[in-house]
Amino acid sequence: MFNFPDPTQAQLTEDGQLKHFLDIEGLPESLLLELLDTADSFVDMSEQQVKKVPLLRGKTVANLFFENSTRTLSTFELAAKRLSADVLNLNISTSSTKKGETLKDTLMTLEAMHSDMFVVRHSDSGAAHFIASQVTPNVAIINAGDGRHAHPTQAMLDMMTIRRHKGGFKHLKVAIVGDILHSRVARSQIHALRILGVPEIRLIAPRTLLPRNVEMLGVKVFTNMAQGLRDADVVIMLRLQKERMTSALLPSESEFFKLYGLSEEKLAFAHPEAIVMHPGPINRGVEIASSVADGPKSVILNQVTNGIAVRMAVMSMAMSGQVAERAKKLEAGE
Ligand code: CP
Repeated sequence: MFNFPDPTQAQLTEDGQLKHFLDIEGLPESLLLELLDTADSFVDMSEQQVKKVPLLRGKTVANLFFENSTRTLSTFELAAKRLSADVLNLNISTSSTKKGETLKDTLMTLEAMHSDMFVVRHSDSGAAHFIASQVTPNVAIINAGDGRHAHPTQAMLDMMTIRRHKGGFKHLKVAIVGDILHSRVARSQIHALRILGVPEIRLIAPRTLLPRNVEMLGVKVFTNMAQGLRDADVVIMLRLQKERMTSALLPSESEFFKLYGLSEEKLAFAHPEAIVMHPGPINRGVEIASSVADGPKSVILNQVTNGIAVRMAVMSMAMSGQVAERAKKLEAGE
C-alpha cells in the first residue's frame, strides 16, 4: 500500500491542465466535460479510413501492467498507436521485477529509454501516485487501475457511454450493483457521477460487500434489488472480486445470483429505457444472466469501444499539459 498525495495537485498543472491522470476525485466538472468532448471527437476519427492522428508522434508510451488485463491494456495500446506514439508493452512476468528489481529501479530503467508516458496497472492502492512522485516531471503517469483505489479511465469511458445513450447526467438515477467493497471502478464512478451532477446514485449490495460509512459519498444504499433498481435509468453491474476477498463474505455464488444477479425479472424493476453496463470481465450466472448481458439493453461492448476514444483523450490531454508545463518552466528559466 502506498500513500496518496493530494490528487488534484498531483495531476494538474498550475493552469489547471491535466499532466497525469491518477484519480477522478477533486477534478473539476469542466475538465471531465472537456475530456468527454475530446473523446467524442476521436470517435468520429475512428470511423475514417485512416484511423490515426499525429498528436503523440515521436513520443514513447510504456504500458506497465503489474496485474492482469484484457480490455484496459489492449485499448490503451490501440489508443496510443492511433495517436501515432511508439508503444512499449512491458511483460511483467518476464521482466527483471521477477529477479528482485525494485519498482523504482524498473522506472529509472524505462526513463533512461526516454519514455514520455507510463500507463500503470498495479494491485496496490496508491501505486500510480507513488510512481508520479518518483519519476522526472516530464513523464506523464496514467492510472490504469490501482488496487481497490481507483480506475479513472474506466469511469470516464463509462461516463462517455452514459452520455451517448442518455444525452446527459443531470436527470439520471444510476444504480451500481454488487461487490462495491473491493471495486476501484465503483469508487471512480461515484466520484465522476457526482462531479457531473447525477442527482441520484444508488448502491445495491449485501452489507458485507459495502464499505463502512459509504453513505458519506452522497449515495443511497439498498440491500434489496427490487427497491434499488426501481425506475433506474442506468444499471451498472460489478464483478465479485474473489481475488481481493480475505474472508468469506458470501454464502455461495448461486445464492448471490439469486439475490443480486441481474436477471430479466429483476431488470424489469428498472426504467423501461434503462441501459445495462458492466466494466468487465463479466461472470455469467454470477452477477449477470447471459440473456441480460447479451440482451437489447446491454451496452457492455459499447463501453469497450468507447475505451479507445477516452484513452486517446486522456493521453493527448496529459501530454499537452506536460508540454505546456515544460514550456512555462523554460520561460521562467527553471
Ligand atoms: N474493466 C477492466 O479493467 O478490465 P480488464 O481487467 O480486462 O482491463
